[in-house]
Amino acid sequence: MSLRLGDIAPDFTANTTEGPIHFHEWLGNSWGMIFSHPADFTPVCTTELGRTAQLSDEFAKRGVKVIAVSVDPIDQHHEWVKDINEVNNTTVNFPLIADENREVATLYDMIHPNASEKATVRSVFIIGPDKKIKLTLTYPASTGRNFFEILRVIDSLQLTATYSVATPADWQEGEDVIVTPAVSNDQLEEKFPKGVTFVKPYLRKTPQPNK
Ligand code: BEZ
Repeated sequence: MSLRLGDIAPDFTANTTEGPIHFHEWLGNSWGMIFSHPADFTPVCTTELGRTAQLSDEFAKRGVKVIAVSVDPIDQHHEWVKDINEVNNTTVNFPLIADENREVATLYDMIHPNASEKATVRSVFIIGPDKKIKLTLTYPASTGRNFFEILRVIDSLQLTATYSVATPADWQEGEDVIVTPAVSNDQLEEKFPKGVTFVKPYLRKTPQPNK
């Protein structure tokens, strides 16, 4: 069965470009992103891993540890990382799992046989400090992911984990947010001292509380 939001992210031990990793131990109390790719030495994947490396400060700023999965062997990963660094003018500074036996791919349901029998699809799982899955995304092999969108969702997840708010369509960091329906009108002044605008009785907006 596929993994769902709120499930505990499966634990595993794997060989990576940074040595063996016991996943939950490696995550510690951090947020995490585990994401898969169809194969090493493929063009779209080369741009995706490069973009992730270029954005490593952004992931670090948000306290998110990043780890990539592909079902190729470790020697090949090391060779491919040289290409990724060269092509994207960056340095990959996160581990790549060599998932030759597809243990991780199977645990995370990253192989979709009707798309490809052998290769992993482009899966993304964002994991909270409680080890629970907060976001799942699945892209086809032919479409590279938008890593700014992934950072945007992480911003929303981290904000909504702390405050009784939700974020509207296309929300960007710093923009107004929505008060969740669980907050009664009597609580608004205490919880949202910056003020609340009623667009509809059920759609109440407030400035981003932590700005
Ligand atoms: C790629 O990463 O470029 C790719 C991988 C598998 C199929 C199509 C594209």
